[in-house]
Amino acid sequence: MEKWWEKTEFISAKVVTSQPLIIFLFTPTIYLMKPAKPGTSTSSVTHARKGLFSTHSSRADHFTESTIREMTRLSLMYDAINLAQGFPDFSCPVELKAAACNAVNDDFNQYAITWGAQDLREALARKVKKYNKMTFNPDTEITVTCGSTEAMMASMLAVIQPGDEVVVPEPFYENYGPDAQISGAVPRFVPLLDDFSIDEEAWKSAFTNKTRAIILNSPNNPTGKVFSKKELMFIAELCSDYNVIAITDEIYEHILYDGKKHISLGSLDGMQDRTITIGSFSKTYSVTGWRVGYALSDAPITERIRKIHDFLTVGSPAPLQHACIAALMLPETYYQELATMYDRKRKILFKGLRQAGFSCQLPEGAYYIFTDISEFGMTDSDFARFLVKKTGVAAVPGSSFYHNGGQTRIRFTFSKKDETLMEACQRLGHLNLP
Ligand SMILES: Cc1ncc(COP(=O)(O)O)c(C=O)c1O
Repeated sequence: MEKWWEKTEFISAKVVTSQPLIIFLFTPTIYLMKPAKPGTSTSSVTHARKGLFSTHSSRADHFTESTIREMTRLSLMYDAINLAQGFPDFSCPVELKAAACNAVNDDFNQYAITWGAQDLREALARKVKKYNKMTFNPDTEITVTCGSTEAMMASMLAVIQPGDEVVVPEPFYENYGPDAQISGAVPRFVPLLDDFSIDEEAWKSAFTNKTRAIILNSPNNPTGKVFSKKELMFIAELCSDYNVIAITDEIYEHILYDGKKHISLGSLDGMQDRTITIGSFSKTYSVTGWRVGYALSDAPITERIRKIHDFLTVGSPAPLQHACIAALMLPETYYQELATMYDRKRKILFKGLRQAGFSCQLPEGAYYIFTDISEFGMTDSDFARFLVKKTGVAAVPGSSFYHNGGQTRIRFTFSKKDETLMEACQRLGHLNLP
């Protein structure tokens, strides 16, 4: 006799293939109501699930697990020092912790206005005017998001039509690939030169009448490049000539070395109306887990970003938005000390990597060193796995930052305590690389 669970699964599988929309809504209920019987085979459940999965969107088919997070997993498995994922292993400023506790105690625990708490938007408008030299109306031109990750996704969904081309300098922060895929953009990757400066001819030939946007990240992850005013002016001219929107990821804007200055592309003549400037509290204030970022753009674009943002996330965590106001009130010295601290860390890791035999250059900004491993005779993935197992130091294979290539590179972060970095350098020193 047919068993009840066989019947259920048969129905599920059958309906899945003939009525995908309906079963998408009802199948979970069927599974919840009829849990698997202990000791029974799950093969027919799998069969039914296969039917269910075959009706799912193909949008995520080409996504792989984020290599950076995979390296974090391996790092935990081998009890390694995680120089893969760019988050600090030290505390955020005490002022921020106190402000977050106060915000919870003061009952900022319900939804904030979907595009961000008014006080935070006003504080951001003041900060951006002073630091980035741009003027935005907090009521109509600023959207607070769940980190810059959401700001980038919401911005791309707001301005890109499926099939539009988006110019992305390569190597690039790994999220931009999936962002392009989700928004339907066709990425046009433009390689940076060996010293990570821009190749003007390559940029010129990347722009076509299908180009809708560019994504520019400066200071740059993974290269540490800080784009110069001359390079930004060249990019701005191309954007104007081809009527293209610039989406800039400026998350490392305060982490700069050797007198380098951060210039927002949107602050250049004629660029503010065609630029979406993205920022975040994650790196500047060592609060990557808080998920507070923002997108700045003129009112018509902001209106679209806000609609997408509303349906993606409703809003960024309300008490932490309030705590971020305290972050924006920190004195100028905070930013100087931040840059000095990271300069010290950059030098510790750079020295350790060079002594261990890595080829690398000092970054100009952000908190990564992008090494060249071509002499070691291993691909980036093999080398990263070898490194985490053999020395207990996790790094990211370079190919995560290329659509095709990067096998000769490995990225290390130095967003860690000095003692963590020193211990990592000591471990790397035992490698005896050629
Ligand atoms: C260039 C860049 N953009 C965005 C992010 C993610 O930022 P958020 O925490 O604000 O989402 C990172 C994190 O490493 C990054 O390196």
